[in-house]
Amino acid sequence: MCGIVGYIGDHSAVSILLKGLQRLEYRGYDSAGIAVLEEGELAVFKKEGKVANLISQLNGTGLHGSIGIGHTRWATHGVPNDTNAHPHVSEDGKIALIHNGIIENYLTLKSELKAKGYHFQSETDTEVLVQFIADVYRNSDVDFAESVHLALQRVIGAYGLVILNVDEPDQLIAVRKGSPLVIGKGDHAHYIGSDASPFLEYTKEVIYLNDDEIAVVKRDSISITDSKHKRVSPYFERLDLELDAIEKGAYDHFMLKEIFEQPDRLRDCMRGRVLAQSGEVKLGGIRSYADKVYHAKRLILTACGTSYYAGLTAEYLFEDLCRIPVEVEYASEFRYRNPVLSEDDVLVAISQSGETADTLVAVELAKSAGATVLGICNVVGSSIARATHEGIYTHAGPEIGVASTKAFTAQLIVLSMLALKIAGERGTIDQRKKQALVKELQVVPELIEEVLDHAGRIKQIAQKYWLASNFLYLGRGYQYPIAMEGALKLKEISYIHAEGYPAAEMKHGPIALIDAEMPIVVLALKDKAYDKVLSNIEEIKSRHGKVIAIISEGDEAIKAQVDDWIEIPAVLEYFAPLVSVVPLQLLAYHIGIMKGCNVDQPRNLAKSVTVE
Ligand code: G6P
Repeated sequence: MCGIVGYIGDHSAVSILLKGLQRLEYRGYDSAGIAVLEEGELAVFKKEGKVANLISQLNGTGLHGSIGIGHTRWATHGVPNDTNAHPHVSEDGKIALIHNGIIENYLTLKSELKAKGYHFQSETDTEVLVQFIADVYRNSDVDFAESVHLALQRVIGAYGLVILNVDEPDQLIAVRKGSPLVIGKGDHAHYIGSDASPFLEYTKEVIYLNDDEIAVVKRDSISITDSKHKRVSPYFERLDLELDAIEKGAYDHFMLKEIFEQPDRLRDCMRGRVLAQSGEVKLGGIRSYADKVYHAKRLILTACGTSYYAGLTAEYLFEDLCRIPVEVEYASEFRYRNPVLSEDDVLVAISQSGETADTLVAVELAKSAGATVLGICNVVGSSIARATHEGIYTHAGPEIGVASTKAFTAQLIVLSMLALKIAGERGTIDQRKKQALVKELQVVPELIEEVLDHAGRIKQIAQKYWLASNFLYLGRGYQYPIAMEGALKLKEISYIHAEGYPAAEMKHGPIALIDAEMPIVVLALKDKAYDKVLSNIEEIKSRHGKVIAIISEGDEAIKAQVDDWIEIPAVLEYFAPLVSVVPLQLLAYHIGIMKGCNVDQPRNLAKSVTVE
């Protein structure tokens, strides 16, 4: 979703801001803008569409100011256009502000401001916020940072803000509540970002702001105060992140890079955590709550999007291996139900970004009901990682492609390790079985490598079907959530309508759609559902549907029954989703490319969804 970059230093701000905005493009956005302090005045440029449009608009302007802010906007209040783009500026032209999040009481504040004679250009909540802060500043005799503090007392909602005021030209104000902000320390300079990607090439020394903290950021100093005006000592951390992790390298797209790096990232994720020799699983991140987790009466897995499908897959695993009742919930549904929770429940929140608003609220809800709450997040230090009691990082590295790939398989690895750990502790699997499973899990990256070696075949299949306007994905048991994930991938990046279904449910509805034009991707592995799925394939073929089957290596018999097939190496049913999802990621990728879609930044989608 929206992205933030800020700079104060000795260099010209414009190129730093524009490069930063390009690095933020991955989050998903529909307009972009910057404000630079130029000889005592604000120079503001905003443009609908890609950052490239903004860059063209800035060509030849020769701006040289060394303090500025930039923003990529993902529209919530008001359509994507130049006027609604950020930064927004107060009526007197003195204060510029960029904002991630949503101001819930903006209509109340707006009508108060209108009554005082203020006018508004845009439809946004953000313009209300900047006018409101300007009004408090003008009508109080405190300094600007204190005015921001006072104004925010009246504001309900979530925000990450960076503010520039011409009256106090040697500072930026950064403040957060529910929306992340990180400050980077440079040489006689500071950078601000909604994540570190806009300034990773300049510094790795960072401070993550906490909720309700206000930072006054100058070239050579940062002063942070909390909501009670208490000074907070800035705590710098060193980012363990290299620039190439957020660059495409030799790949055409981030999505492709991220699909291909899965074997290595999954090895990273397991490193030091699974010991094949002894069959041990070590999860240091859940040490303090280990007893609660092992003796949970129920596991509730909650997430959104692809992370939800990781939860759905893990339901099979936890029930099979740990014999614990499991519920899997969309966080957006869970938070608005009246869920029955107890201290014996363990809620596991799964989130790549660690910032998804609905998942974060689900975490708070479960915590307040006394449940133990674990996080499975990819982004270290993210809001969900911090809000949960304990957790396990997926260590998949930054995921830039909007459609999640490597983060999904890393989530599955973490959930597999957790299931093995719990099963071992509860005694629901014996040591020999545990050892065998740990060994198999460690081989998964190699199996994925085998699938990737045959990526060319998947491209050929994509070539046959890319013009279809509907797809159906079918799977059973462990492969049912993978059917859902495969369909989600396709619709996200190729805009083709696709539905994932449990194979046996086909006859209760989707079968009506099948004709000679309809490609149906069937996950038909040699597992316990195999014979049943074969019958489903027969049902499809007798209605002239086109079957693309994901099959187990060496299954010669099935090849004659289907139109196209992709083989995956033999793998235990428990871990088969980790391997079978990979051809579906590639199929979606190639179809998206053939359709000319922007696979890394699909229309309307955002990488981290920080609004509900
Ligand atoms: C967005 C992204 C998806 C992601 C979902 C949940 O919709 O586009 O790729 O699966 O959010 O995000 P999370 O960061 O919580 O896993």
